[in-house]
Amino acid sequence: MTPGQPPMPAALLQALAAQLEGRSRQELRSRAQALSSGYRLHATTAATIRDESDALSYALTRMPATYAAVAHVLSRLAEARPDFVPVSIADVGCGLGAATYAAQAIWPSLDRAILLDQSAVFLKLAQELAQEISASLVSQAQFLNRDFVAFAPDVQAELVVVSYALTEAPEGALIEIADRLWASMGAEIFVIVEPGTSRDYSRLMRVRAHLLQHGARILAPCPHESACPLIEDWCHFKTRLPRSKEHLFLKDARVPYEDEKFSYLILGRRPADQSFTARLIAPPQIGKTGVYARLCTTGGIEETFTARRDKALYKEMRRKEWGDPLVAHSKETE
Ligand SMILES: C[S@@+](CC[C@H](N)C(=O)[O-])C[C@H]1O[C@@H](n2cnc3c(N)ncnc32)[C@H](O)[C@@H]1O
Repeated sequence: MTPGQPPMPAALLQALAAQLEGRSRQELRSRAQALSSGYRLHATTAATIRDESDALSYALTRMPATYAAVAHVLSRLAEARPDFVPVSIADVGCGLGAATYAAQAIWPSLDRAILLDQSAVFLKLAQELAQEISASLVSQAQFLNRDFVAFAPDVQAELVVVSYALTEAPEGALIEIADRLWASMGAEIFVIVEPGTSRDYSRLMRVRAHLLQHGARILAPCPHESACPLIEDWCHFKTRLPRSKEHLFLKDARVPYEDEKFSYLILGRRPADQSFTARLIAPPQIGKTGVYARLCTTGGIEETFTARRDKALYKEMRRKEWGDPLVAHSKETE
């Protein structure tokens, strides 16, 4: 499966539309604006999502983007481990369950979901939405009101996803939380998705180094398990998604799409099946004479140029997007 910009599932959008009936759009708009300002200042969910109107404005303005980012990342997992067909998922810091919905779209095999969050407000709306969507994974999910900083590891799942949630963990507790989730939940695969900022990338690199020392193997995005070679830069990716009419109104936005930047890490108990030698870590530049690409490779960072005259390779490189893996790449470096 190739990563794209999948919209949230139709049944979820309908359940959200039902929640909007009779609600003041102006009220939601002022909540959405407060939410944006809060997130810009790194405010936590506990400080920003205080009631159902806040949670609904999150569903309309942030969840489509977190859904798109986690859908992209999970499709990278499907690419790296095509044999991985999970039946259980734990969505840790689930919010309204974006990661669970995205996982279900990729693996219809999933038949058990645990959604865990410390926000009672988010969990209540997540459950209401799930009840509207009959015969789906979320409608039978187990919802747990827990704090993952003090989380007793009494649930297990093959796939554990933490999406845009570790970012809210205190600096001093970060490693302990990641360690506990990896060690105690029995996951074959552990996925972390974070906002694409330098701060969140640095935190992710700390988690990466620690879990590598404790037996984890990296499936994506890195094509190697050495220290990250980026200097004065950070590894992140982007997905573009259309804005709904509601989103445009609530955010007072003009542009009909938004770009969501994210960083991620996919860890497994064994290495990827599809070995790749490099990944595009910036948008490729297509010029008249060829394609320029910035790659993270097994040997470090490389700036490559694939000439138009190298027909087969050029054709392959032209199709590549930011974030795609390469099995082999041009050695012609400018
Ligand atoms: C920005 S939201 C992301 C929600 C969802 N995962 C998504 O991708 O849309 C962060 C979530 O992490 C949860 N969270 C933050 N700290 C937590 C903690 N210590 N224990 C459990 N959940 C936590 C928040 O309550 C919130 O639901």
